[in-house]
Amino acid sequence: MKSDVIIALDFPSEEKAWAFLDHFKSLEEKPFVKVGMELFYAAGPEFVKKLKAEGYPVFLDLKLHDIPNTVAGAVNSLKGLGVDMLTLHASGGREMFARAKEAINDMEHPPILLGVTVLTSFSDEGRKEALLGENHSVEETVEGLAKMALSAGCDGIVSSAMEGEYLRKTIGSSFPLVCPGIRPKGVSAGDQKRVVTPEDARKIGVDFIVVGRPITKADDPLSAYSAIRRDFLGGNE
Ligand code: C5P
Repeated sequence: MKSDVIIALDFPSEEKAWAFLDHFKSLEEKPFVKVGMELFYAAGPEFVKKLKAEGYPVFLDLKLHDIPNTVAGAVNSLKGLGVDMLTLHASGGREMFARAKEAINDMEHPPILLGVTVLTSFSDEGRKEALLGENHSVEETVEGLAKMALSAGCDGIVSSAMEGEYLRKTIGSSFPLVCPGIRPKGVSAGDQKRVVTPEDARKIGVDFIVVGRPITKADDPLSAYSAIRRDFLGGNE
């Protein structure tokens, strides 16, 4: 799959999401979009099917995290949607990934399973408190989770681009790296703590950047998307 910008469709309803997508009507190819919990819980699987039927590449970001049997069942239930990427929390552990992978084994075009390492909204104190990571740096936590997830059958990794650089050095470039927490220069970080510009993400070796508010809240979403895409792809559009 070619590197690209993925737009986070963080909207409360299907109507708002379609109205937003109208801004991109003039593009030859549909943009890659991410459906997260907010929109999926409001609009449901039928909305995702419609996006796919219209030709949108879809990243379904449900960050599954439960016992292996339950996650395998959830992945099985999502199979019919035909999504291109699906997230699971890496801290769910080895068996959870193995069972999720097993559940999609028989698909002709299975989704890329992505392991979410440390949320980009965590400050260092917040991460230490929530993940009991007092004795480890954020890089060590991300690396440990990523290695475990990849060896258990996960295809790619979600992390902040800041840790992405470390992952490329320690684990290499054999897996797709997907990074949210992206902010073009001069745009507010909002609740994101570990942010990187689109251009720096490319230099680090990130394959896909996930961008929400800098595009969804822009006065002109198409121009914002096009500028971010130009910076990220650096002429390889
Ligand atoms: O608006 P913003 O660009 O901050 O949106 C980032 C998107 O990426 C959100 O949809 C958020 O759920 C998602 N995400 C994240 N950090 C992760 C994984 C996903 O911010 N580690």
